[in-house]
Amino acid sequence: MNKSYPLTGFSSVALHAGHKQDPMYAHITPIYASSTFVYDDAEQGMRRFSGMEEGYIYSRWGNPNFTEVEEKISALETLGIKDTTGNPLQVKAILHASGMAALATLMIGNLKAGDKILTHYSLYGGMEELITNILPQFNIEPIIIDLRDLNKAEEAIKANPKIKMIHLETPANPTLQCVDLEELTKLAKANNILVAVDNTFATPYLQQPFRFGVDFVFHSTTKFLNGHGTAIGGILIGRDIEKMNKHLTKTHRLLGGNSNPFDAFLLNQGIKTLELRMERHSSNAIAVAKHLENHAAISKVNYHGLASHPDYKVATKQMKHAGPMISFELKKGMQGGIDFMNKLQMCTRTVSLGTADTILSHPASMTHYSIPQKEKEKYGITDGLIRMSVGLENIQDILTDLDQAF
Ligand SMILES: Cc1ncc(COP(=O)(O)O)c(C=O)c1O
Repeated sequence: MNKSYPLTGFSSVALHAGHKQDPMYAHITPIYASSTFVYDDAEQGMRRFSGMEEGYIYSRWGNPNFTEVEEKISALETLGIKDTTGNPLQVKAILHASGMAALATLMIGNLKAGDKILTHYSLYGGMEELITNILPQFNIEPIIIDLRDLNKAEEAIKANPKIKMIHLETPANPTLQCVDLEELTKLAKANNILVAVDNTFATPYLQQPFRFGVDFVFHSTTKFLNGHGTAIGGILIGRDIEKMNKHLTKTHRLLGGNSNPFDAFLLNQGIKTLELRMERHSSNAIAVAKHLENHAAISKVNYHGLASHPDYKVATKQMKHAGPMISFELKKGMQGGIDFMNKLQMCTRTVSLGTADTILSHPASMTHYSIPQKEKEKYGITDGLIRMSVGLENIQDILTDLDQAF
């Protein structure tokens, strides 16, 4: 691709950014399944190790398949965004083995003993465990509040000068709560606090957190970015290029959470169709949410694309569409959830999200089965809660399957 050729459309960038002409003229970048890379002579090895010459050294450090994805996702997360000098915003991305590996680099690379991290209740379970069980072992304590309440956020920041980072997930798992990226970032910046946003549910097509001045965006690329459920992956993207290139690259390399060429190849193919998929996921999801809103079997629908959702305004302000994720509560609780899941015919019974097909899970009997009831409730997991990642099937077939299962 001619790098100076200006691309303005999301799909054009998704298709072409990061791609380089293959030396053997393959159309699609081949899978560079090689643990290490060779040098023409010892001097070249010296230049590469010293950073005087660009080039690959060892696949824990970098690989052509990783670079293509890193450049593509960086371009999508910043498309149309300018920096303070009016130039296109530059960021740097590091591909990881999983979303959790990207989070480990983010946390370990930015926080030290004595620091505090401010976050909210509705969060991906693994993240919540990392923050509440693992980080405290290193004397990094969480403060967990409802960050939709900006006054509470300000109070917490004023009362805790050791807060170093705010961790946000919006829309959040599994309640679809949304926090105000613009207002929370303003508050954080006024208090010299870093802001990191998990953009997994939205993807850069629906929401670009860098637009609001956040410091880090990260994804479980396992989900909508890959889009087909074929590989686990994660990516960390930062606007402080020097920190990303130096300290966070070093942290990532030493923690060893690198991706692999095959998964990066699959991810790269998936991203190319992100716009088309997110449009269809989103139009199907709003149709499902409206269908369920007044359904006799359901007591509550959590979807920030419905005007009845408490975070509808915030979601509308910062997202292009509400997106593919919905959750709803069945009136018949635990047994109702189990019966419903067992009756599904076309939609898939599994955890995870972001695949081409529609996926449903019942957290109370699956992911959150062994968590004490009180804890579950704190995080919005009721017995009858069903989480749904609305897929690309024809809408009538999705609705028919849901209705017969109710
Ligand atoms: C919102 C969110 N963030 C992060 C993760 C962790 O990603 P991974 O499973 O790729 O490690 C997940 C996984 O489900 C998630 O849903």
